Amino acid sequence: MNKVTSVTEAQKIKPVPTLPDAQTVTEVKHYTDRLFSFRCTRPASLRFRSGEFVMIGLMGDNDKPLLRAYSIASPSWDEELEFYSIKVADGPLTSKLQHIKAGDEIILRPKPVGTLVHDALLPGKRLWFFATGTGFAPFASLLRDPQTYEDYDEIIITHTCREVGELTYGRDLIDSIKTDELLHELMGAHFHEKLKYYPTTTREESPKMGRITDLMRSGEAFTDLGVTTLNPDTDRAMICGNLAFNLELKEMLEEYGLEEGANSDPKHYVVEKAFLD
Ligand code: A2P
Repeated sequence: MNKVTSVTEAQKIKPVPTLPDAQTVTEVKHYTDRLFSFRCTRPASLRFRSGEFVMIGLMGDNDKPLLRAYSIASPSWDEELEFYSIKVADGPLTSKLQHIKAGDEIILRPKPVGTLVHDALLPGKRLWFFATGTGFAPFASLLRDPQTYEDYDEIIITHTCREVGELTYGRDLIDSIKTDELLHELMGAHFHEKLKYYPTTTREESPKMGRITDLMRSGEAFTDLGVTTLNPDTDRAMICGNLAFNLELKEMLEEYGLEEGANSDPKHYVVEKAFLD
């Protein structure tokens, strides 16, 4: 009797995948009416570099998969995968994806790609992660990667969102890093002192308001952080946000003398669009 019950329970938690490339959702968290994150099982064959993205989605109408690029937010050593997503009421995918629950299936093509990887940057001393909105996702992976702390003396993450609630995912992640067992074990008790977090909002009052681009231009961001401006000899940067932000920041970094790198040609900074519906 007991045995039968336990088999049924196990099946409930891990249903046999039925879709092609199906993975099972294990946890969903909603942050605001515009943002949520979820975790799912990881294909045994999937190897990825922190900062890369994969195509994920659901079966759409006409039995055709509806897929979008999503940065993997979990670190490469995690048994599961984590994603951070926007909810768009009339978005073809996210209007449906926002309703997923633990036990549901999603489609995941196990072919990771992307430019926000350590390999695309030349060695440096200070690493900047610049994010807006869900552009924080690839950095959630990179911030949990021991290589980030191994390769750099200082890591600065800036996150600009419209509202305070949109900072919660990033803030929780930064808090959790301080007590991350693996990073403690590998990097020593003080590794998190290398990390500086600079959250800002643009449409709701918070301790630091303004677009990061404006705060850098005025010098306020550097004063607040107690750091010097960017310099191609020491600074490396990764950018992930909305298109206008990416373009504006890219131009600013070029003015500081930084050059854009790629997997095949590592340089000073790399850019990736936060993929929206
Ligand atoms: P703002 O509220 O002034 O538009 P979104 O949710 O639309 O993707 O925006 C996320 C955040 O990115 C918002 O705080 C937004 O500020 C900011 N943002 C938009 N465009 C730029 C830009 N060109 N430079 C810097 N920040 C930007």
